Amino acid sequence: MPSNHGAIVRRVAISVAVLSAATALISGKPAQAPPSAGPKTAVQAFKNIQVLKDTPADQLIPSMQFIANSLGVECDFCHVEGAFDKDDKDEKKTARKMMTMMITINQENFEGKKEVSCNTCHRGSPHPQGIPIITAEAREPMNTEAMEHEHHDHDAQMPSADPVIDAYVKAVGGSDAIAKLKSASEKANMAMGPGKVAVEIYEEAPDRRVSIAHMPGGADSVTAYDGSEGWLSFPKRPLRIMNADEQYAAKLDAEFLLPSDPRKAFTELKSAKPDTIDGKEVNVVLGINPNQPPVKLYFDKESGLLVRMVRYANTPLGINPTQVDFADYRDQHGAKLPFQWTIARPFSRFTMKVDSVELNTPIDPSKFAKPAAPPPGPPAH
Ligand code: HEC
Ligand code: HEC
Repeated sequence: MPSNHGAIVRRVAISVAVLSAATALISGKPAQAPPSAGPKTAVQAFKNIQVLKDTPADQLIPSMQFIANSLGVECDFCHVEGAFDKDDKDEKKTARKMMTMMITINQENFEGKKEVSCNTCHRGSPHPQGIPIITAEAREPMNTEAMEHEHHDHDAQMPSADPVIDAYVKAVGGSDAIAKLKSASEKANMAMGPGKVAVEIYEEAPDRRVSIAHMPGGADSVTAYDGSEGWLSFPKRPLRIMNADEQYAAKLDAEFLLPSDPRKAFTELKSAKPDTIDGKEVNVVLGINPNQPPVKLYFDKESGLLVRMVRYANTPLGINPTQVDFADYRDQHGAKLPFQWTIARPFSRFTMKVDSVELNTPIDPSKFAKPAAPPPGPPAH
């Protein structure tokens, strides 16, 4: 369906463009700001902030993504493109009241903890349902994954995660084979409607990674993490430096696409309750790092391979989840690499398929060099 294709391309293009344009409003270079100044707050960086005043500026857009995820809408449900500061839509005004209501509910009932979020009521719809639904078939109670995550108790009774991690390391070729994986240059493609976007991916152990998508129209969209800093660029848009949560996510992706021992990526790994994915039994391990929500890792019981990673990014309004499903592991010089992965967020998902891979051929350092930031472009349209 060409129209659908257009809509998808537009959606991807708009969300990337909107994000970079919006973030361009956050002026300056946070990393280089004098330490005494502290990070900018939303009220300092944006024009018309009345509720989320003390939110760090680089958390405003993730908060907006959380709202869109919770209501199942796009940014334009509340905003007119190119004029995010204007209050010309009733939905935006309602959303502001809702934020105040939510903060009050949490303060008055949950000691200020973020127990109630937009999603608690909205669950992916602008119109929450007050009346429980009668479904056609008897069904299992709601999936409690997110709740388990928020309230997950470190169960002292759970066995050590080591056997699961050892089985994974063995399944991807053993520690000797994965220690020899220094780099990978991959040619891949991403499905977009009926069309495909060609993508080049360069990875260097342990965690450097850049992917260059050749977008329709001939320009490139780049997502990069150089081991200490990450950035995103989109044709004709200002370069956007990743915030701390996005960098953490980029680093994790890099660690698992070129397999390494997960014990290097996390300070602690804990077993959680086993689960099933598509009817197959999986072992679940929580990967824990200081100041970050635990990452859930799902290892197939039979093959030992990592089939899913779910990571969570905190925002002032709630938690944004991202799920990465790994598939089609193939042997490459004694190690196994995933040739397919699907990145899913509440209302979007895309699948990357690798066509060919070259291992351990030197990668031109310029691939990991951050381009100079061009002057801020015009607002997104
Ligand atoms: C359900 C309504 C809603 C949705 C959907 C929404 N926003 Fe917002 N947005 C708001 C509200 C309300 C504010 C003002 C917050 C305040 O006053 O504290 C705001 C403020 C902003 C601002 C600050 C503008 C300024 O200069 O004052 C930006 C930028 C922004 N949103 C971007 C986005 C983006 C990008 C998306 C899509 C990912 C999005 N918003 C989705 C309601 C929404
Ligand atoms: C305690 C439950 C609850 C929470 C929490 C909540 N909402 Fe709502 N929200 C509602 C209800 C109920 C309505 C009315 C729905 C209707 O008109 O059908 C509503 C309506 C809205 C609307 C108007 C929708 C429309 O079509 O006009 C917006 C926008 C909205 N909420 C945004 C938010 C945002 C953003 C948050 C989080 C900051 C949030 N809500 C948190 C219950 C909630």
